[in-house]
Amino acid sequence: MTSSSLPGTAKVTVVDHPLILHKLSLMRDVRTGVKEFRELAGELSMLLAYEAMRDLETAPERLSTPIQDDDFPMLSGKKLALVAILRAGLIMADAMVRLVPAAKVGHIGLYRDPATLKPVAYYSKLPQDISERRVFVTDPMLATGGSAVAAIQTLKEAGAQSIKLMTILSVPEGIAAVHAAHPDVDIVTAAIDTGLNDHGYIVPGLGDAGDRIYGTK
Ligand code: URA
Repeated sequence: MTSSSLPGTAKVTVVDHPLILHKLSLMRDVRTGVKEFRELAGELSMLLAYEAMRDLETAPERLSTPIQDDDFPMLSGKKLALVAILRAGLIMADAMVRLVPAAKVGHIGLYRDPATLKPVAYYSKLPQDISERRVFVTDPMLATGGSAVAAIQTLKEAGAQSIKLMTILSVPEGIAAVHAAHPDVDIVTAAIDTGLNDHGYIVPGLGDAGDRIYGTK
């Protein structure tokens, strides 16, 4: 795992674990079909979450094993919220909630304004107590960063104070855009690719994540 940050910006953690790299390579492979792609995206999201949640607080609780009573660590501190950026972020949030089943789940939908080309939130349903929760916002592809920046803005306007961005693939442009707009938001990703092509796709990337997850074109 490698973590880096420029002065005044949040951290980027690349979780370059062999299992993650292997699963990511399978996801990149054009021959990988919908079923396998979906499964891999879910598994990889759980592995990323494992690392992203490393700094969750624990506190001792008194429990009885079949042998004796003792204090054992249990999750404590702020409760969690997972927020999926529609639609590709759903698969990540759905997988992560299996690790933290008590987390609340929010959704943000964005469209691109044809005049300004800027993303605009058309749908936002978030936990009411989001200001008291640690928020993990999910979007598999951090490309230009436009959607992530807008979604994080929506979260902040709703009161969110502690936000981590979870992505499967990122590019330097997207990371820079998120850092410029939201220097307090850490990013957790499986890999940083070279850049974007003329159509805004990540290179070498894995194609359109939403289409590959849902089998649409
Ligand atoms: N969104 C995707 O799904 N894929 C990319 O390569 C870029 C943005």
